[in-house]
Amino acid sequence: MRNTQLGRVWIAGADGRVAREFVKLLDTRETELFLTDREDRDVSDADGVNMFAEMNRPDVIINCAGITDVQLCETEPELAYRVNALGARNLAVAARRVNARIVQLSTDDVFDGKTDTYYSEFDQPAPFTVYGKSKLAGENFVKDLAPKHLIIRSSWVYGEGKNFVNDLLESARGEKEILVPENQVAAPTSALEVAKCILRLLTEEAYGTYHAVCSGSCSRYEFAAKILQLAGLEARIIPAFSDDLPDISMRPARSVLYNMMLRISCMETPVSWQEALETYIRSLKN
Ligand SMILES: NC(=O)c1ccc[n+]([C@@H]2O[C@H](COP(=O)([O-])OP(=O)(O)OC[C@H]3O[C@@H](n4cnc5c(N)ncnc54)[C@H](OP(=O)(O)O)[C@@H]3O)[C@@H](O)[C@H]2O)c1
Repeated sequence: MRNTQLGRVWIAGADGRVAREFVKLLDTRETELFLTDREDRDVSDADGVNMFAEMNRPDVIINCAGITDVQLCETEPELAYRVNALGARNLAVAARRVNARIVQLSTDDVFDGKTDTYYSEFDQPAPFTVYGKSKLAGENFVKDLAPKHLIIRSSWVYGEGKNFVNDLLESARGEKEILVPENQVAAPTSALEVAKCILRLLTEEAYGTYHAVCSGSCSRYEFAAKILQLAGLEARIIPAFSDDLPDISMRPARSVLYNMMLRISCMETPVSWQEALETYIRSLKN
């Protein structure tokens, strides 16, 4: 994949799942990378963010930083808004100052999950969780403050580190029965597929809001069943309602994103959720 025109790239939240996959895709002979995470450059520190941008003059800023723990956002809303909303604002201001493009990562949680079909980029967000509201506030800051922006929404992202797939595999090796909600439906998407999409959009110099999810959709229960099948594990999963499972109850019920912007721009879309999952499970075995 060519990425010659990216130039100097600053990734904030570089230890996260999506950031790690994105870095693997880059040709470092062509790109100068600045990787920061919470300890070395807290995105909620406006002065620190500006100083870093002025010093390093990135051409592209990718905001992968975020408080992604939905429960934590509920219990610590100020932290959620500080990082997910103000962090995005700070990076957007810095991007405008140094004339950089900015990529803001966002989520299906900006929708209420009450649709019978899917959400395209042209549907109205209506978040009901602190996480979703803080991410939408982040999107809006970026839209309002940075003219050269890309907002990329994805869902049920898994990759290196803590995530639903790895948690399930771990539980399957220990617990006999695992409760998994069957009343949450979305498009599971690997961090690798999100990263590929970001790179394609940057390479094409695309701007605006794009959904970037694997094709197809499933319930959490179907997702779990496929994970176990591909991993060759025998654990018993029990279909449940999300209200019975506090860890994942605060999510939209049906938040299937549709990659309409990618499709109407005639751009390549991510592979099916089954294919992406198979690639991921295979990578764990190697
Ligand atoms: N995971 C999903 O299902 C999903 C779905 C759709 C969209 N997204 C969005 O995609 C983005 C990346 O997701 P991800 O799954 O790669 O997230 P992730 O693995 O949770 O990574 C987020 C990173 O941001 C860091 N961070 C937290 N607070 C920070 C701060 N104040 N300053 C700088 N860095 C900070 C985190 O560090 P600590 O670990 O130390 O907190 C972590 O390394 C997020 O914006 C998320 O909202 C995720």
